[in-house]
Amino acid sequence: MNTKQKARTAIHCLAIFLNLISITAHAQNAHYDAVLVATPPMGWMTWNYFGDKINEKDIKEMADAMVSSGMLDAGYHYLMIDDGWQGGRDSKNEMIPDPVKFPSGIKALAAYVHSKGIKLGVYSDAAQLTCGGYTASLNFEEQDAKTFASWDVDYLKYDYCGAPSDSITAKARYKKMADALHNSGREIVFGICEWGDRKPWLWAKNAGGQLWRISADIRDKWKTDKPWTDQRELHTIGAGVLDIVDVNADLAPFAGPGGWNDLDMLVIGLNGRKGPSGDLGGTGCSPTEYQSQMSLWSIMNAPLIATNDLRTMDDATKRILLNKEVIAINQDPLGKQAERKVKNRDWNVFMKPLKNGDYAVAILNRNSSEKAFSIDWKELGLNGSYTINDLWLKKDIGKGKKWAGKLQSHETKLFRLKKVS
Ligand code: GLA
Repeated sequence: MNTKQKARTAIHCLAIFLNLISITAHAQNAHYDAVLVATPPMGWMTWNYFGDKINEKDIKEMADAMVSSGMLDAGYHYLMIDDGWQGGRDSKNEMIPDPVKFPSGIKALAAYVHSKGIKLGVYSDAAQLTCGGYTASLNFEEQDAKTFASWDVDYLKYDYCGAPSDSITAKARYKKMADALHNSGREIVFGICEWGDRKPWLWAKNAGGQLWRISADIRDKWKTDKPWTDQRELHTIGAGVLDIVDVNADLAPFAGPGGWNDLDMLVIGLNGRKGPSGDLGGTGCSPTEYQSQMSLWSIMNAPLIATNDLRTMDDATKRILLNKEVIAINQDPLGKQAERKVKNRDWNVFMKPLKNGDYAVAILNRNSSEKAFSIDWKELGLNGSYTINDLWLKKDIGKGKKWAGKLQSHETKLFRLKKVS
């Protein structure tokens, strides 16, 4: 072989090698899309109930309650530890859990939750310190990803406090951790949490994320009292359920199997409990408003991540969080986020096509009084007659080309329409 031929062979081998890497990366992503996050993740997260006052005893109890309450059966299968678990780094710079809060370590906790069929999530941040001031992962991405993998962690929420505000840095820092997770030898779902400030729906999937927060932190309230135009204002005035619905309403094109708009936790069942969700006007929602959150999060394909105390759930909370027909709308394999088809001061109507040809329709009364509403399905582009299954009443309530009825203030009707002719 002469030098030219040798060079050509070397280039050829390199191309095959790069191709193999790209095929492997592609196959890995395809696996994420088709299996791990083919539908929005469901689970329970520590933050809005416990804040950073977490420990292994409470978390184990919560894992037990995920099983005994029926949450796991209903599909909530991630238990995510948010900020506050970290205890710094050891002499080899390995991240360690707080020895007082987690004396048995995270690996033992993972084994405990795995034994119940639950997956475990942890939290870090793309800077030196997290939002709560704990040790974070900047410049330790490879090492921390390997540590999380060695603990058998299944999910990482990756925050952005303390990091520069520009998008270029954000994309690079998220990609660096996503690559580190891919190289860790374990499949770890990657939740990007920069609160929608840099329009992550445009880049988060390419940066390696499987879900991305689209808004400021949710508070336990229906909506903020103050008008806002840019969602970033919600950081200081406090995002309610309706505010986040409004941020997400135009983002339907960006969600689908493998990558989801994350609307933050379900505040259902917090009932005005103080804690992070209690700040900035988070004094609680009415049962109707909590039911609306479940309806709207479900039809908009949001990850369903509860944060209430599962050990003491009342029946009203269980009725909302455990409605399997509503969850089925969220987990529908077609993976289409609902579009907002009607938008005026009092009314919003969302529509989501389902895999079997049915449609989910949510009708929301934004007004602060009870009101009457009527709709011809043609207004949503649906021709023909449909049976209407009310997913909260759990029964068929009519058949035809339209629906009319009354909605309480802030109520959302959630219907499944099946074509009859
Ligand atoms: C940020 C996130 C929250 C939570 C806290 C923890 O505010 O948006 O969801 O993780 O940090 O400190």
